[in-house]
Amino acid sequence: MAAKQTFFVFFTAFSAIIVPALAQLRPDLYDAICPQALPTIRSIVERAIEREPRMGASLLRLHFHDCFVNGCDGSVLLDDTKTFTGEKTAGPNMNSVRGFEVIDEIKDAVNQACLGNIVSCADIVAVAARDSVAMLGGQSYQVLLGRKDSRTASKDAANRNLPSPFSDLSTLLSSFQSKGLTLEDLVALSGAHTIGFAKCAIFRNRAYNETNIDPHFAESLRSMCPPTGGDTVLGPLDESEKKFDTVYYDGLLQQKGLLHSDQELFKGDRSASDGLVRYYSGNSKTFWADFGASMVKMGNLSPPNGSEVEIRMDCRRVNFN
Ligand code: HEM
Ligand SMILES: *[C@@H]1O[C@H](CO)[C@@H](O)[C@H](O)[C@H]1NC(C)=O
Ligand SMILES: *[C@@H]1O[C@H](CO)[C@@H](O)[C@H](O)[C@H]1NC(C)=O
Repeated sequence: MAAKQTFFVFFTAFSAIIVPALAQLRPDLYDAICPQALPTIRSIVERAIEREPRMGASLLRLHFHDCFVNGCDGSVLLDDTKTFTGEKTAGPNMNSVRGFEVIDEIKDAVNQACLGNIVSCADIVAVAARDSVAMLGGQSYQVLLGRKDSRTASKDAANRNLPSPFSDLSTLLSSFQSKGLTLEDLVALSGAHTIGFAKCAIFRNRAYNETNIDPHFAESLRSMCPPTGGDTVLGPLDESEKKFDTVYYDGLLQQKGLLHSDQELFKGDRSASDGLVRYYSGNSKTFWADFGASMVKMGNLSPPNGSEVEIRMDCRRVNFN
C-alpha cells in the first residue's frame, strides 16, 4: 500500500508539470532525442492525404481550433470524461472538426519510433498542419516545438473562443486581437480556406440572402444547398479546394467567398483588409511566406500561466495518475 502510494507520487511528479512563464519553443527539440519524430509524422500525413485529399484541410483546421482555445495544448483532442465536457461537442467543432484518427495513428507511430512518450500531441498537430500545407502545394515553414498537452478541456471555452462564420470583420478582428494576432494575421491565416469544405448549413444564408455575392456563384450554391434540408452537403471553400494556392483571394475579389466571414475580408471599400486580399491574390510567394509566419505566431499561443500540462501518452485521454 505504501509502495503503491509512493509510486503514484513519483509518477505524478514526473508526468504533469505547471506551465512556466515564457516556456520557449524551438525548432530542433527532437533532433537529438528522437530524430525519427518529424519524418514519421510527415509520412503518415502524406499517406492520409493520398487516401483522402480533404484530410490535409482537416488537419490544418485542427491546429487552429487547438490553438484558439487556451493555447496550442492538444485540448481539442480530448474525449469527454466524468469531470469535464471537452471541446469536440462545442458548436464550431461538433460534426465538423475531423482528423482525430490520423492524429491517433501518428501518436502511436511516434511513440514507437521514439521508444517512448517524447512528442506531445500538441506538437504533432502543429507539425501535421504544416506538412498538410506543404503536401497540398504550399510552401513549408519551420515549426517550433516543445508544446505540452493540457490535462483538461472545456466545451464552454471552445464556444467562447472560436470565431463564428457569421461574424463581421470587426468581430473577427477582435477575436484575433484577443490572441495577440493582427489584421495581417487574420487575412493571411484565413487563406487556409484555400483548401477544404464547409457545410450547406453554414453557407445557406449567404447563398439565399446576401447581396455581396456573385449571382452565378450564388445560383450554383443554391443548386447544391436547398433552402431546407441537406445541411451536411459540402461546398468547396474555393475553386481549387485541393491546392494550397491564392485562388481563395481571387474568389474574394469576385465576391465568391463561401462563408460570410470570408467575404467580410473584401468588401470593395478600399479598407486595409481589402488591400491585403488584393496583395495576396496572384502573389503566392508572399502569401506562403506570410502564412507561414502567421502560423508560427498562432502556434506560439500557450496555455494560461499556471495550467497543469504533460506529454500525453494517448492524445484522447490525460495520463493516468
Ligand atoms: C477567421 C475566422 C474563421 C472562421 C469564422 C472559420 C470558420 C470555418 C467554418 C465555418 C468552416 C466549415 C466547417 C464546416 O462546415 O464543417 C471552416 C473550415 C475550414 N477552416 Fe476555418 N475559419 C476561420 C479561420 C481559419 C483559420 C485561421 C484556419 C487555419 C489556419 C482555418 C482552416 C480551415 C480549414 C482548412 C477548413 C476546411 C476543413 C475541412 O475541410 O475539413 N480556418 N472554417
Ligand atoms: C506568468 O507568471 C509570471 C510569474 O510567475 C509572470 O511574470 C508573468 O507575467 C505571467 N504571465 C501572464 C501571461 O500572466
Ligand atoms: C433569409 O433571411 C431571413 C430573414 O433574416 C431568414 O428568416 C431566412 O431563414 C433566411 N433564409 C435562409 C435560406 O437562410
